[in-house]
Amino acid sequence: MYNHKLHSKILKIFSDHQLKRTTEINFFYTRFVSNISAIQALFNELYGNHPKGKAQFDGLMETITSAYLSRPAALKQKDHEKLEKENWFLSNELAGMSLYVDRFCGNILNLEKKFPYLQELGINLLHLMPIFESPEGESDGGYAVSDFRKVDKRFGTLEDLNHIQQCMIDEDMYLMIDIVLNHTSQKHEWAMQAKAGEKKYQEFFYMYEDRYIPDEFEKSMPEIFPQGAPGNFTWVEDCDRWVMTVFHNYQWDLNYTNPAVLVAMLDTIFFYANIGVDILRIDAPAFIWKQIGTKCQNLPEAHKILQLIKLCVQVATPGMALLGEAIVAPQAIMDYFGTGAFRAKECDLAYNATQMALQWDALATGDTKVMLAAQSILLRKPYGTSWITYTRCHDDIGLGYDDYMIEQAGYNAYEHRQFLKNYYSGNYSGTQARGALFSYNPKTGDARISGTLASLCGLEKAIEENDEEAITASINKILMMQAMSFFIGGIPMLFYGDEVGYTNEHSYLEDEGKSYDNRWMHRPEINWDKNLLKDKKGTNENRIFGGIKKLLKIRKNLPPVADKSNLTWITPHNIHIAAFTRKDNDLQIFCVFNFSDKPSFLTWYAFRENGVNPTKIFDHWTEKEYSVGRDHEFLIIKPYGFLLMEEIDSEAY
Ligand code: GLC
Repeated sequence: MYNHKLHSKILKIFSDHQLKRTTEINFFYTRFVSNISAIQALFNELYGNHPKGKAQFDGLMETITSAYLSRPAALKQKDHEKLEKENWFLSNELAGMSLYVDRFCGNILNLEKKFPYLQELGINLLHLMPIFESPEGESDGGYAVSDFRKVDKRFGTLEDLNHIQQCMIDEDMYLMIDIVLNHTSQKHEWAMQAKAGEKKYQEFFYMYEDRYIPDEFEKSMPEIFPQGAPGNFTWVEDCDRWVMTVFHNYQWDLNYTNPAVLVAMLDTIFFYANIGVDILRIDAPAFIWKQIGTKCQNLPEAHKILQLIKLCVQVATPGMALLGEAIVAPQAIMDYFGTGAFRAKECDLAYNATQMALQWDALATGDTKVMLAAQSILLRKPYGTSWITYTRCHDDIGLGYDDYMIEQAGYNAYEHRQFLKNYYSGNYSGTQARGALFSYNPKTGDARISGTLASLCGLEKAIEENDEEAITASINKILMMQAMSFFIGGIPMLFYGDEVGYTNEHSYLEDEGKSYDNRWMHRPEINWDKNLLKDKKGTNENRIFGGIKKLLKIRKNLPPVADKSNLTWITPHNIHIAAFTRKDNDLQIFCVFNFSDKPSFLTWYAFRENGVNPTKIFDHWTEKEYSVGRDHEFLIIKPYGFLLMEEIDSEAY
C-alpha cells in the first residue's frame, strides 16, 4: 500500500542528502517508495510497542540510504545485470564450493592461485567459511564473531578480501559469506560493554540476574550441543548475570526484541553487501527470536525479521541473494521461502537439508521410499526460489525429517534412526561407513552424524583393507550421491576436500579449542600433493575429481537443470531406484539413481508415464545411446549407478 507520510520522509532524506535524480538514483527511489510501507508494517509488528521503535525506524531508513549511497558503482552495475536476468541464482551454470580459507590455502590472497584448480572442476561460486575476527580457542569455526567488520588476521585483511572479490568479478565468479545473525562472541565489543555493566549493551543480549527467567526458558528449549555445551544459559562472573548461550557458552545470543540490535545487524548486512557478496548465508536464522514456552526456533517473528531484511536488501543492494541456513524439519525449512503474502519474498535460497539427509538414508538402506515420501513437501518450493544442494558440509548430518515419512515407508521411526546412526558410526556389522555420532543427547537418545563424504561412503575402510572392489564401490557411491545433488535442482555446494576424497582426520583431538567438537574430523587441512593426484590417472583422487568435473560440465550444458520448478518424480516401480524428469521448453532429461549394491531394473514404462514418449535417449554420464524398450522390458542400472539421460527422439502417442 502507498503511504504518503513515508513517501514524504523519503523525499526529505533525498533532499537532505542532496540526491540528484539520475536514472540510477530513480531506480533506487522507486524501490524505496514501493517497499517502505511493507517494511514499516513488519517493523511495527515487531517493535510497534517498543519505546524506541519510532526512533529506530528512522535509523533504519537512514541505514538503507547510506547502504545504497556507499555501494560501489561496479556493484550497482552488477545489481542491474542480475535484476535484468531475474532470479540469476536459478541458473544451472552455478556451482559452488564451501571452504575454510586457512585450511584450504593458508590465506585469502592465496585463493587467487587456486582459481585454476577450482575452475577446472567447474566451480564459480565460493563460500568462504567465516573469515571475520573470532577468538582462537573459542571460535566455533569462526561462528563466534568478535568483530563483524574486521577480517581475522589469520586469513588476511579487508583489503585482501576486497582484492579477491575484484579478482572474482574479473573471473565471473561469485562470492558467498556468512552473517552470524543469532549471536556474537563473548569477546565482541557489545558483549564486553555488557560485561562491564553498560545497560545499553546488556539489552543487546538476554541477560538475567537470577535463574527465574532462564529456568522458564529451559522448560521448553532443546539443547543444541548437549555434549559440548549443555543448557542454554551461562553464568557471567564479571557482571553477575546469566546470559543466553544457545550454542556454545562463548556465543551470546543477540536479543532481537530490541530494535537497536536489528538496525545494527542490518547495517552489518549492508557492509557485507557492499564488499560484493553475491549470496549472504544467514547463519542459524531459525533461532533469532525467543519466546518463553516455545522451542525458541522457527517463531513467526524470526520470519518477519527475515522478510524485513529481504525487503531492505531489495531496496539498497538488490543483487545480493539471501540464503537461510535453516536446518530444521522439512516443512519448517519450506517456510523460510516465505508464506502467505510473503511467499517467495523471504529467503531466496535454503539448504535442502531434507534431501541431503534422505540421500544418506537411502544409501544406508538401499531403499528410496523414505526419500520419496518427503518429496510432496519439497516440491512446494515457490517459483523463483531455490535450494543449496549438498551431500556434506562443515556441519553434522541431522536426521531431522519427520517420523511419518519413515513410517509411510513401512519402518518404525525409532528403530530406523537407530539403524542409521549405527550404520554411519560404524557400529553395524557389514557397514562400510566410518563416521561418528555428534552431539549425542543421553536424555533423548538423539544424535547426529559426523564424517567426510568419502569415509561415510566407505572409502576409508576400503583403502585400509586394501580392497580394490570396495574402493570402486565407494567411489561409485560418492559420485552417485554428488550426481543426485547436482541434478535435483538448486545450486550444488561441494565441501572442499570431497572433490578428491578426503577421509576423516583425527588431529583435532590434540587441539583444546577443537577437541570437544568432532565435526572437525571432516574439516580437512588440504595437502596439495594429495589434491594434485587428481592429474595422476587411476588414483582415487583422479577418479573422484574427474567424475565430479564431468558431472558439473554436463550440468552446465543442460538448461533443464536450471531450477525453474520443473521437476517431476517418476514412479520407479522399484524401491532401490529414485528417478525424476526435468523439462525446459523442448528439452527433457531423465535422471535415474540406483541406491542398491546390486543391479536394479527399471521398466521402460517409467519413461513414458509423464505424457511423453521418448524412443531414443542419450545418457550423458556413460555417453551411451539407448532405444527405449517396450513396457515389459527393462533398463538395468549398475550397483550405485546412475544415468543422466536426454530425450533425443520421440514419437507422438
Ligand atoms: C550454524 C553453523 C554451525 C555453527 C552454528 C552456530 O549452524 O553452520 O557450524 O556451529 O550455526 O553458529
